[in-house]
Amino acid sequence: MRMRYVEGATELINSKPELIINNLDNSPIDFLEVFKNDLPVHIEIGMGKGKFIYALASENPNINYIGIERFDSIIVKALNKVMEKPLKNLMLLRTDAQDLDKIFKRESVDRIYLNFSDPWPKPRHTKRRLTFKTFLKLYQYLLIKKSEIHFKTDNLDLFDFSIEEMNNYSMNITYLTRDLHNSDFVGNLMTEFEEKFSKRGNVIYKLTAVFKEKK
Ligand SMILES: C[S@@+](CC[C@H](N)C(=O)[O-])C[C@H]1O[C@@H](n2cnc3c(N)ncnc32)[C@H](O)[C@@H]1O
Repeated sequence: MRMRYVEGATELINSKPELIINNLDNSPIDFLEVFKNDLPVHIEIGMGKGKFIYALASENPNINYIGIERFDSIIVKALNKVMEKPLKNLMLLRTDAQDLDKIFKRESVDRIYLNFSDPWPKPRHTKRRLTFKTFLKLYQYLLIKKSEIHFKTDNLDLFDFSIEEMNNYSMNITYLTRDLHNSDFVGNLMTEFEEKFSKRGNVIYKLTAVFKEKK
C-alpha cells in the first residue's frame, strides 16, 4: 500500500480511544473491558483501510472484531469510516503484528484473517512476511485451540511460500482454493486489494489452516 504522510493522523488517532487503541507502549488489552462482553474475538492483521473488517463486523454482531494496522497514515482511513458509523463490536488497533503477544493474552483469539499481506518478494525480507514461521508461532500463542487462520492473496509466490511454512510448522490446511471467486467457498467478502486486483484479472488464492494439537 502506498504510504503518504497524512497531516493530523496521529492526533486524530489519539483523540478517539473509544474507537482505536494506539498501542505505543504495548500495554495488555483486556477484551472484556474493551467490548463489555465475552463474545468471540476475530482479528485482521494488516487490515489497511478496513473495508473488509468493517463489512464483517456489520454482518456479524455476535462476534467482536479487532482490525490491526501498523501505519497511522493508513489506519486513519479506517478510523474515518468507523467515526461515520461506529460499530460496538469493532475496535481498531494501531500496532505492529510482531508485538501482539505482549498485547493479547495467550489463547484469547478465535480467528485470524490475513488478507493480501505484503509479499516481501526479496529473500532478505522473508522474515517480514506475515506467514513466516516466527509469525506462525505468534499466531499459535494467540489462537484458541482448533481456531482457524484465513489467508487470501493474489500473489502465487506468497501463497506457495505460506503453504510450505504452514506444512513445516505442522499445521493442517483445512481448505484451499487456487481460484476463490470460482470456488465453492460461501460468503466471501472482498477486501480493498481483492477488488482492485480481481478487476485487473488476477486470480485470488485462499486457504484456511489450524494448528495441529501437540501430542
Ligand atoms: C497490501 S495491504 C492489504 C490491506 C487489506 N488487508 C486488503 O486486503 O485490502 C497490507 C497491509 O498490511 C499492513 N501490514 C504489513 N505488515 C504489518 C505488520 N507487521 N503489522 C501490522 N500491519 C502490517 C500494511 O501496512 C498494509 O496496510
